[in-house]
Amino acid sequence: MEFSCKDFKVGKCEGEKVVDGETMPLVLQPPETNKSDLDSLLLALKTNKDWFEQMIIKNSAVLLRDFDVKNAQEFNEIIEAFDWDDIRYVGPAPRTHVHKRVWTANEGPLSEFIYYHHEMVLIREYPKKVILFCEVAPPEGGQTPFVPSFKVTERMLEEFPEAVEEMETKGLKYTFSAVSKNNTSSMRGRGWEDTFGTSDRTEAEKRAKALGMELEWLPNGSVEATLGPRDLTKVFEGRKGRRMWFNTVVGMYGKEISSAFMADGTEIPENVVKRCEEIIEEESIQFKWEKGDVLFLDNLALLHGRRPSLPPRKVLVATCK
Ligand SMILES: [Fe+2]
Repeated sequence: MEFSCKDFKVGKCEGEKVVDGETMPLVLQPPETNKSDLDSLLLALKTNKDWFEQMIIKNSAVLLRDFDVKNAQEFNEIIEAFDWDDIRYVGPAPRTHVHKRVWTANEGPLSEFIYYHHEMVLIREYPKKVILFCEVAPPEGGQTPFVPSFKVTERMLEEFPEAVEEMETKGLKYTFSAVSKNNTSSMRGRGWEDTFGTSDRTEAEKRAKALGMELEWLPNGSVEATLGPRDLTKVFEGRKGRRMWFNTVVGMYGKEISSAFMADGTEIPENVVKRCEEIIEEESIQFKWEKGDVLFLDNLALLHGRRPSLPPRKVLVATCK
């Protein structure tokens, strides 16, 4: 595979890191200033589709910068330049449909940190690519930090070889609860009706089962979902045999609305989770969003999150198989 391409110039961004010889993110810019328009970009992407996809896998994150992408319509055209199928989002984030394959990324309050995750990690089918477009760059904060997942596994194995192997062997079990839309006014996230796309309990159970979860209805109308067993790590084709930290233990452990255990009910030691949280933060990579940026993340290789931000900030998303 040829790593250079005449239709893109490799740039740099503040915050990029070299991980095992690969720069993350790989910044791709117009080869000449007169090729920064959308049509030139679309042509370059269509001409170099396979190459571009290889770069996403090789570098885990590719940032298109200085192409003057203006809005959701143009972002959608970029997505559609590839032959990747759309994958419908299932999860807790409040999202609004914007245009064709484009959604708002997360409408949760900007003051909140959205914790690191592989997109839809708990669902049977998760996207291979998460693609983000910055329509309005935040004045301060609001980065989308990402973390090479295999580094987390490596470091956890160094520090907690026994706990990691125990969790791997036994598997993991998660629970989360979701309120009903009908009995709350100040909700974080969404009600179970939105999560499962129905307000019929039997139908919700059916859909939950298809996603690999069991539901239990509580007297107050909310629901508790149990998922498991799930893997601690996964190895994906074409990713150098790397063991990805493909779980959401830190995000769900010991929370008011969620929990994480080993699949047989064994508690996960708190110090292991705390240290894992620190490691994830230490391994994180972030750059400052610029208006018009388009970021392609290999969702099989990276965890991503959102730092608290001052308004305004508008980042749109598309997820692909
Ligand atoms: Fe996400």
